[in-house]
Amino acid sequence: MDYVERLENVTVLGAAGKMGSGILLLTAMEMADLSLQPENKSRQFVLNAVDVSNEALAGVLRFLREQVRKAAEKKTVALRKVYADRKDLIENGEIIEQYVFDVLSIVRTSTCLEPAYDSGLVFEAIVENPDVKVKLLTQIDNNSAKSPWIFTNTSSIPIHELDKKANLNGRILGFHFYNPPAVQKLVEVIKAEKTGEDLVEFSSAYAKKLRKVVVPSNDFAGFIGNGHFMRDALHGIKEAEKLAKDMPLHEAVYIMNKISQEYLIRPMGIFQLIDYVGVDVCQYIMSVMNPYLPDEDLHSDLLDEFMGMEVKGGQYADGSQKDGFLKYEKGRPVAVYNKEKKEYVPIADFQAACDEKLGKLPGTIKPWKALLGDPAKEQTLKTYFDELNGMNTMGANLAKDYGKRSREISLKLVSDNVAHNEKDVNTVLLTGFYHAYGPINEYFA
Ligand code: NAI
Repeated sequence: MDYVERLENVTVLGAAGKMGSGILLLTAMEMADLSLQPENKSRQFVLNAVDVSNEALAGVLRFLREQVRKAAEKKTVALRKVYADRKDLIENGEIIEQYVFDVLSIVRTSTCLEPAYDSGLVFEAIVENPDVKVKLLTQIDNNSAKSPWIFTNTSSIPIHELDKKANLNGRILGFHFYNPPAVQKLVEVIKAEKTGEDLVEFSSAYAKKLRKVVVPSNDFAGFIGNGHFMRDALHGIKEAEKLAKDMPLHEAVYIMNKISQEYLIRPMGIFQLIDYVGVDVCQYIMSVMNPYLPDEDLHSDLLDEFMGMEVKGGQYADGSQKDGFLKYEKGRPVAVYNKEKKEYVPIADFQAACDEKLGKLPGTIKPWKALLGDPAKEQTLKTYFDELNGMNTMGANLAKDYGKRSREISLKLVSDNVAHNEKDVNTVLLTGFYHAYGPINEYFA
């Protein structure tokens, strides 16, 4: 099968989920673009959107319609060329509506697995549970005459485990989109021991068409992205727990969130990021990774405790942030959860006292957003970190420890052969996590 044939019949499993819906959108547009090429006019392209509820799938169709319309509005010039032989399409609006129609007409929703039996390619984006993934993949593979390729979006499960347990014999590849798939540029591609070279080649072509930045990761639980994030999060949590011996935990959480965001000039503090991803998701990813890491304990009692109190973070359906370690108003943290009192304490009540303990921020600090737009970013960073490294305040010391730990985690990803090289780790953090500088740097050497 060549590239086009492979994309003639595709299934997205978990199509109504956060990741699945984005993968569906990108794949639907790529398939529609192929279907509109003159040489492919005789082919029939089918994209099965499989999930457990019809209601959720109806929502996905609404999402697709809106998103495809937005994408079409941005590429009317190109679409005008595609529809050059359609003399009935005159206004931009008509061209846009035709494209929305053409993309949507490829998509078939289903709550059964059967349609997937005809697919040559299956994107798997269901819950991060190895047993459920193996069950569905086995069922599809046993019933398909096409020996389908599986592109799994797993965040943490080693691909060779899925390969072995679902008996796929190398017809599986980790194709790890970042959230949301349509916006995030990064894809981590994970080739397992037996993965065929033809899958890797196809994945490169497909990623290129989607204009993604590909970073290859070796097949170790958590890969590069979560390999860094989970350990980085545990560092923040453990430091907060240490500080909490001398202050209330909610103040310690505020402090470590501020250290990891403001002092390290990251887009979000670590507790905000845990809330964004979801306390439950972080806890679960650690639990999936942990058995594969005999020399480490990737686990946090504090996450368990917050889960027990149903304080979970995550996102509402409209994308807004649910409360977790922090409480949010208009997307900004305004309070921190006090686990003893089981209530949120406004940050304004303790911020000044905590900030005084941390000491002055370095005078040369530049906020993350301003730094990204700074043409002299490298020099600005060097000046800032030189100043930070020369300081001996509580805040500067916590930040130095944090930066060093992030660097150490990253170097270990290279020495453990999870990442091929230092540049790949930096690219994942720069592209997938929007950091302003890579964790492997001279500032914390
Ligand atoms: P989600 O919970 O939003 O979506 C999962 C979807 O799978 C749901 O719509 C659910 O109904 C569906 N599903 C569950 N069992 C099914 C079954 N038996 N048949 C068909 N559909 C079924 O989860 P999310 O966050 O989209 O994650 C999906 C995968 O992507 C996981 O493997 C996760 O680790 C990975 N991932 C998640 C990221 C994130 O930031 N959310 C980022 C990168 C990867």
